Amino acid sequence: MAVNRRIVLASRPVGMPTAENFRLEEEPVPEPRHGEVLVRALWLSLDPYMRGRMSAGKSYAAPNPVGGVMTGGVCGRVEKSQDPAFQEGDIVQGFALGWQDYAIATSAQIRKVDPSLAPISTSVGILGMPGMTAYFGLLEVGRPVPGDTVLVSAASGAVGAAVGQIAKIGGCRVVGTAGSDDKVDYITKELGFDAGINYRTAGDLNAAVREACPDGVDVYFDNVGGPVTDAAFANLAQWGRVAICGQISQYNNTEEGMGPRSLRHVLINQASVEGFLVFRFTQKYPIALRRMARWIKEGKLRYREDVVEGLERAPEAFMGLLQGKNFGKLVVKVADE
Ligand SMILES: NC(=O)c1ccc[n+]([C@@H]2O[C@H](COP(=O)([O-])OP(=O)(O)OC[C@H]3O[C@@H](n4cnc5c(N)ncnc54)[C@H](OP(=O)(O)O)[C@@H]3O)[C@@H](O)[C@H]2O)c1
Repeated sequence: MAVNRRIVLASRPVGMPTAENFRLEEEPVPEPRHGEVLVRALWLSLDPYMRGRMSAGKSYAAPNPVGGVMTGGVCGRVEKSQDPAFQEGDIVQGFALGWQDYAIATSAQIRKVDPSLAPISTSVGILGMPGMTAYFGLLEVGRPVPGDTVLVSAASGAVGAAVGQIAKIGGCRVVGTAGSDDKVDYITKELGFDAGINYRTAGDLNAAVREACPDGVDVYFDNVGGPVTDAAFANLAQWGRVAICGQISQYNNTEEGMGPRSLRHVLINQASVEGFLVFRFTQKYPIALRRMARWIKEGKLRYREDVVEGLERAPEAFMGLLQGKNFGKLVVKVADE
């Protein structure tokens, strides 16, 4: 009998997740019923938002139930179909198929992936949720114009690397912050960012941002919160825009952090600060997908994947993501294409 391996949430973490919070289980592969398909996972996406789902606290989505399969986006192949819209062998991507070998899905939960656009793993990366986040968060929330200075944090990651390159395509001056010299070299030497700051070694972050952004920060794309964000606020330009995308430095906090602490800078620069969730832009994904696929083909938009082999290694890789151990979009190769 074919077996479905699945990783469930064994218990809710307090602070940084540990291996005990996850459990690998096995069950028979489920059979699709009328209107359903069976998807074989090929690529599992590991993303920071999963840390929020592991907790019971209020958020924009319901928490992962304890004992339930860990939520996660997957790119996979249709193995069996009871829906005439999907054929065996179709490559699909689903937002919530979970950390498991096989999942049952309906058409509302999956979309077909066009393998001619780019390698299919990009459907959970640059041509998937993180890429859409970068595109719309930058262009519709940050609203840069050519010549603006754009600062982005977690700049070598799935979202940040795309933000910086799209801002370059749009004629901006781009500065990124990242957690190692290798990552800073990557964004400046390979992706064409104008400057990079290693926030772990920079010392005085205010001074480092001021030096890298002498005319001030017109758009700050915030992926991290905490001290990097304080330094960005302190260097906002007049009429600056801050797009609050993520606060990863805060996700393992056990106590509520301090309130917004740099609002004087927002006031004196008449800046605006806006949080956003990528789902706000769902209806417009097709246009972004077309543009980004073209930029990839033209060599204007590059991406880097950090591939972990084997479903069983997902917990360890996810814990690494929360400590900056990933370098590029973190994906788990669950099975051969
Ligand atoms: N609003 C939305 O709809 C939406 C959608 C997708 C993602 N997001 C958010 O976007 C952010 C980036 O996500 P991603 O998928 O692109 O992840 P990622 O950047 O590929 O990986 C996470 C990175 O965050 C950095 N990091 C971890 N702990 C940190 C800390 N304490 N301080 C500063 N940086 C830290 C690490 O890079 P360094 O080595 O550089 O520290 C790590 O590699 C996350 O905050 C995520 O929650 C939001």
